Amino acid sequence: MKIGCPKEIKPQEFRVGMTPNAAQEAVARGHEVIIETNAGMGSGFDNDSYVAAGARIVDTAEEVFATADMIVKVKEPQAVERKMLREGQLLFTYLHLAPDPDQTHDLLASGCTAIAYETVTDRNGGLPLLAPMSEVAGRLAPQVGSWTLQKANGGRGVLMGGVPGVGPAKVIVIGGGVVGTHAAKIAAGMGADVTVLDRSLPRLRYLDDVFGGTFKSQYSTAGATAELIQEADMVIGAVLIPGAAAPKLISRAQLSTMKPGAVLVDVAIDQGGCFETSKATTHADPIYEVDGVMHYCVANMPGAVARTSTIALGNATMPFLLALAGKGWKKACQDDPHLLAGLNVHAGQLTYEAVGTALGLDVVSPEAIVNA
Ligand SMILES: NC(=O)c1ccc[n+]([C@@H]2O[C@H](COP(=O)([O-])OP(=O)(O)OC[C@H]3O[C@@H](n4cnc5c(N)ncnc54)[C@H](O)[C@@H]3O)[C@@H](O)[C@H]2O)c1
Repeated sequence: MKIGCPKEIKPQEFRVGMTPNAAQEAVARGHEVIIETNAGMGSGFDNDSYVAAGARIVDTAEEVFATADMIVKVKEPQAVERKMLREGQLLFTYLHLAPDPDQTHDLLASGCTAIAYETVTDRNGGLPLLAPMSEVAGRLAPQVGSWTLQKANGGRGVLMGGVPGVGPAKVIVIGGGVVGTHAAKIAAGMGADVTVLDRSLPRLRYLDDVFGGTFKSQYSTAGATAELIQEADMVIGAVLIPGAAAPKLISRAQLSTMKPGAVLVDVAIDQGGCFETSKATTHADPIYEVDGVMHYCVANMPGAVARTSTIALGNATMPFLLALAGKGWKKACQDDPHLLAGLNVHAGQLTYEAVGTALGLDVVSPEAIVNA
């Protein structure tokens, strides 16, 4: 198969759909890999590293789209890219179609087959192509939070680990899923005194079994949150209720009960944020203050560490990419129901129920399509 990887064109996107290592694996299996020039530069991969992997560099995105049987990307195709998709072409990338009628319409009109990273599942009920970005955002949260906690940035001037004779920062993590667990691990590793709140007892049991000596866990209620935030130097918001906007767990009125210069890091900002005073910020201007409390609310945190994020995403996508290229999308989806869960669009038909519901469009079952 001819696998094409264009340079990402969405503003502030430095990741790339294929690493040189992924290209090498594909070439070793007899596939042809076509990379747009400088596609990997934002992640620290130059053209030479792709050439060494056996890929071919082309000058324009047009050439990639015109040549490739499968397009591998990171972000949803932008309008100019959607015009280049064609019937029978396979698109493998993040799509997030439910809030995006324009993109959905264009993909349906193109006749392409589109598999969305974010809806591919695994046998534990997880989302294996979203998890790496949650791991990145979670591990980044204490890092950016501790920077915000510095005096010059508006914070309380508290060191995460303290020093001998001076206690550590108190960090509260609300939500103990993928983001929250990784945030808690790093905050504890920096020496902070960490408590994780979650509403799922099985999850709290797991956290206690695995990390009992590293950080504390507590059942999440409004009362527990109200009490803990009064003592907190940093609160990391990491909740998710699938398919719903994030619940507001700290109100504006509660900010006055917190210590001046305390820091809120709202990782759930991409779902609307879990603090009432959260509003999305960018890497260029990531923090702001409300009622004496500092807020960090960057919606695409993994972009700050594009190289790590690209490699982490590539590690997760590669087995699926190789299956799609090796067997063709239909056989690969017949063989793997978790990959089939990623099928969102095929030949002008929408195949993902939640997108159809959100946009009021008819949906054909993906099973009917692969078994046709
Ligand atoms: N800002 C970014 O760049 C970025 C990057 C990755 C993920 N995210 C977001 O981070 C959030 C968390 O993602 P995840 O992968 O960890 O999800 P997850 O499903 O693994 O974990 C969410 C956890 O929140 C818990 N929860 C739900 N309601 C709660 C409540 N009221 N109190 C305490 N816990 C509650 C759930 O039980 C679950 O354990 C999502 O909104 C996701 O979109 C943001």
